[in-house]
This record gives sequence, structure tokens and C-alpha cells, in this order.
Amino acid sequence: MCGIVAAVTKRNIINFLLQSIKKLEYRGYDSSGLAVINKNSDIVRIRCVGKVNVLSKKVKKKKLFGNIGFAHTRWATHGKISKENTHPHISSNIVVVHNGIIENSSKLRILLEKKGYTFNSDTDTEVIAHLLHLEQSKKGLSLLKTVQKSILQLNGNYSMVVMDAKNASKLIAVRSGSPLVIGLGIKENFIASDQIALLSSTKRFIYLEEGDIAIVKAKKVNIFNKDGVIIERDEIKSNVKYKSVSKGKYKHYMEKEIYEQPLSIQKTLNNRIKEDKTIHFSELSPKEENLFLKAEHIQIVACGTSYHAALVSKYWFESLADIPCDVEIASEFSSRKLAIRKNSFFITLSQSGETADTLEALRISKKLGYLGNLTICNMKGSSLVKESDCCLSTEAGIEIGVASTKSFTAQLTVLLMLITKIMHLKRKNIMIAKKIVKSLHYLPSKIKKIFKKNTLIEKVANNLYRKKNILFLGRGSQYPIALEGALKVKEISYIHAEAYPSGELKHGPLALIDKNMPVIIIAPNDSLIEKTKKSIQEISAREGKIYVLSDKEVNLENNINFIKIPYIEEIIAPILYIVPLQLFSYYIALKKGKNIDQPRNLAKSVTVE
Ligand code: G6P
Repeated sequence: MCGIVAAVTKRNIINFLLQSIKKLEYRGYDSSGLAVINKNSDIVRIRCVGKVNVLSKKVKKKKLFGNIGFAHTRWATHGKISKENTHPHISSNIVVVHNGIIENSSKLRILLEKKGYTFNSDTDTEVIAHLLHLEQSKKGLSLLKTVQKSILQLNGNYSMVVMDAKNASKLIAVRSGSPLVIGLGIKENFIASDQIALLSSTKRFIYLEEGDIAIVKAKKVNIFNKDGVIIERDEIKSNVKYKSVSKGKYKHYMEKEIYEQPLSIQKTLNNRIKEDKTIHFSELSPKEENLFLKAEHIQIVACGTSYHAALVSKYWFESLADIPCDVEIASEFSSRKLAIRKNSFFITLSQSGETADTLEALRISKKLGYLGNLTICNMKGSSLVKESDCCLSTEAGIEIGVASTKSFTAQLTVLLMLITKIMHLKRKNIMIAKKIVKSLHYLPSKIKKIFKKNTLIEKVANNLYRKKNILFLGRGSQYPIALEGALKVKEISYIHAEAYPSGELKHGPLALIDKNMPVIIIAPNDSLIEKTKKSIQEISAREGKIYVLSDKEVNLENNINFIKIPYIEEIIAPILYIVPLQLFSYYIALKKGKNIDQPRNLAKSVTVE
């Protein structure tokens, strides 16, 4: 979604803005822009449809100078992708960039038009700019007071940064539903949607809290809370290494992140498995652990890849911990009248911790009488973490590729550990719990073995990259893995890929099968293999092109291509089987020449509903 970087310094900030906004490309965007106030107090604005590289070329030609300003990447919500709709937006001396949606912007627009304001774009951001200008000119208010007064009239979840050409010594930052971080420098300060953008300049950060407004000057930062009271917020020192947000030896972040999985899983396991092979989460108090003993039902809510991780855990919660579990897509959960189960515990799953739909679902859940709530999240200071009763962190590290990979396997690892913990608390299936811990220990090395198959997987991808459709099949806890495999292909290759439970084949998708339809079947040699073999035969009889992923060759027909996966315990197998599918989708997109890390129309962190 939209990305913001801003700076107020004594040096020329043009290069800083261009380099920093580039670091936010991963969030997904379709146009980019920049504005600075120059020595003559003029606003200089440059905008373009397309990538930051295009913006950089345009900016560099102009030889700009400014020591206060901001850059923005826009992911279109209000109004089409066009230069006019690209941020920053201006109203006379006021300049604004914003992330999020102003829900009452149409009404405000009519009001402002009646007051004589002319609109040059279809955006809600221009509404903010004119509203600020109107409020300021009414009573000659300070910029802070102007912002405080104006935001009372705005509905929605957003963050924004404002500057005033008539007083070019400060930036005003507002967090109201969408995150903003302040970076503290020496005689210079910065603002961004994400600390990643600022790591080359500082390691010292202040995360704004909901409703905070900050005045950011070169030498000073003042923060006011939602009641307008000046407040101290904790300064944190980031331990994220600037190097960790570079691609290193890899062509794409997605490739790097796939290969990081043995390490990220190891980091997620570290310090959580005790010598006696029980699980310990330092983040959970005994009181919170006890809630899982009391829980008669688990409700999980998530979006995208996180939703697929949640779906796998449903199989685990029910088969291992004996707790009924329901999983729902966050936007659906928030869109209906809910009847909640007795003694139900609420869990959200998210890589970013900022997904608007998931946050909304959490907020709704709090009014419904759940026993408590927990989030499993990859971003420690995120909104979901702040608003949840407790959090279990995935230690996947920063994930840049829009198509989520390492955070998915880290989520599954945490979920399986949590369920194993509950098994211990309930003194249930203790022998199985021990086996799980053992298998988790071997998981990173098994994943490394899959990497040795990359040439074969690439060959399969090269055979299939021209296909218009691909079908993925899985059974039991491998069905969500089929869903995730299909999602990966859709996201980065724009090929229509669909996933079905193998057993459901005969109820519809079989009609699609002919010699042109590739079918990828997840078929570990486990308790379900005999049933899966029937599906393979049904496809084979109709000449479908079959690709089987299994630890044992299925010698049924000769039109079957086989990708051997190392053996692993059935319970843990979903975490292993997604890895070849991630590689497969990566190689398809590579062969098609797609923009793998920033697929069209998608965003890494979806901060609007
Ligand atoms: C977006 C991303 C997906 C991600 C989903 C949920 O759609 O492109 O990769 O799975 O959001 O994000 P979350 O951060 O909540 O896991």
C-alpha cells in the first residue's frame, strides 16, 4: 500500500528521499511522487505514473534542492492510476501525502467545492489538503492547530504528513489507523511508513501510537496524544540490519526469502524448546496459558497466505489438541452477524500486523465475549501486536517479497509449537507431542534437501509457464498447502491457478481435465495416500498432465511426473511440502519475466479495508 518518507534537515534531501522511497517499493504501488520546499519557499513537486526509477530520472534532470519534503508511492484507491491522482497533493501553501482512506471524503469534497476550492484530482488526499487550507485561512491557526482541528472532520483509517510552504521548518505527522515511524538523526529527523525506509540514515526510532500527532523539526520532535496532551514516546534502537534488507546474492527477494527458511524456522524454534522437549513461550504468562486449558473452541481469523497457515492449524488443533477450531477470512468475519461458541479463544495471524481487515476483525471480536485473544505476528511493534492481549512472534525477519514465503513456514512452526504446548498442558497425546518436537528439530535440514531439487523444479516450471491454467490438489492438512501453492502462482505469474481437495475432484473440476491441463498433486505416502491415488487415476484416465509431489514414487501410469520430497512425519509434512511449490511458482514467474517482488496490483501490507 502507499508508502511515505519525509525529512527535515539542513542538507539537500533529494537523494535521501529517492533512495528511501525506493526501499518502500515492496509495499506495492502504481505511481510515485515527491515534493520539497526550496530556498524561495516555493513548493516543487514532481510526480509520475510508474516506478520510482522513472521518478528519479525526472527529478535528477531538474537539479532540485530542498531541506524539507517528502516522497510517496501511491497504491490507487480513490481515483484511477494517473499523474493527477499521484501524491503529494497541494492546496496553495499546504502540501500533503497520505496513506489509507478518508471515508467521508465525498461529502467533504462537496462542501469544499461550495467554498470555492477547485479539485485537480479524484483523491481523498486532495480533500485533506483543501480542508487544511480552509481551516488555516479561517483563523490563521498554527499548522499543528490546523491539523488538530481538521482531522476531527475526517473519518477512516489513515496516516499523513503535512508541510506548509509559509513555515518550512517543520513537518506534521498524524497516525490514525495506519502506522508511521519517526527516525531520529543528528540535527535531522525523518518520518516513514516503515523503518526499512530509514535504516540507511538512523537506527533510532519512535513509533507513533494511535491518534498521535507529531511536530517534526530538524532538531526537535514533539508528540501530542489523541487528547492533544504533549507526551513522551519510547525511543527504540532497531536491531534490523541494513544488509538484511538487501537481496545479497539472489536475483529477487522472494528467492532469498525461500532460501532463508531453514534459518527463519530455526530462529522461530530457538529458546522455545526446553531440554525435556516441552515447549516454552516466554511471551505467555501462566494465566494466558490456562486460557487454552479452558478453551472449548478456537476461532482464527487472517487474510491471504496467513489464512492458509490458519487452515492447516485447524487440522492440528482438532486432531492433536482435541479443540474444535474454525478459520475465517478476516473480511468475511467482519461482514456478518456472528454467533460465538462457548469458551472460544480468538487468534489472528499476520505477517505485517497491519492488515486492515484482520485488525477490524480483532476489534469486533473484543465486543463478542471471547475468552481472550492472541496474535501470531512477524512485526513486533505492529498494530495487531499492540491491540492484542498477547502475541507469539514468528522470527522470519523482514519479508520484502509481496508473495509471502518464509513468514508462512514460520507461522506454521509457531502454530504447531502452540498446539504441542496445549497437548502438554492438557496431558494429551504426549508421545505424539515428543515426536513433533523431534520432527521440528529436523525440519530445517529437510528443507535444505528440497533446495537440492531446484533444477528439477525449474524444469517443471519451464514446461508449464505457458499454460493458462494449473490445478493443485491436496487432501487433509495438505489441502491448504495446495491453496497456498495456487495462490503463489496467481500472485506472481498471473496464471489462473486453482486448488481443490483431491476428494472433491469428481464433483466438478474433473470436467476441466484434458491433455492440456497440468495438475499438481501433493501426495505424501501417508495415511491418505490410497485415497489420493484414486484421484491420480481419475486424472490419468482423462490424460491430464500429472505432477506428483511425494516421498514415495506412485507407479500408476506413465503420464505421471514425479518430484521426490524427503520423508517427514505426516503431521509436520505441510510445512515441508509448501517449499517446492514456492520454488515452482518462483521459476514460472522468472521464465515469464514478471516483476516477481512487486506483482501488479498487489501490496505487501494491505492497510485499507
Ligand atoms: C497481502 C499480501 C499477502 C499476505 C496478505 C495478508 O495480500 O500480498 O502476501 O498474505 O496481505 O497479510 P498479513 O500481513 O496479514 O499476513
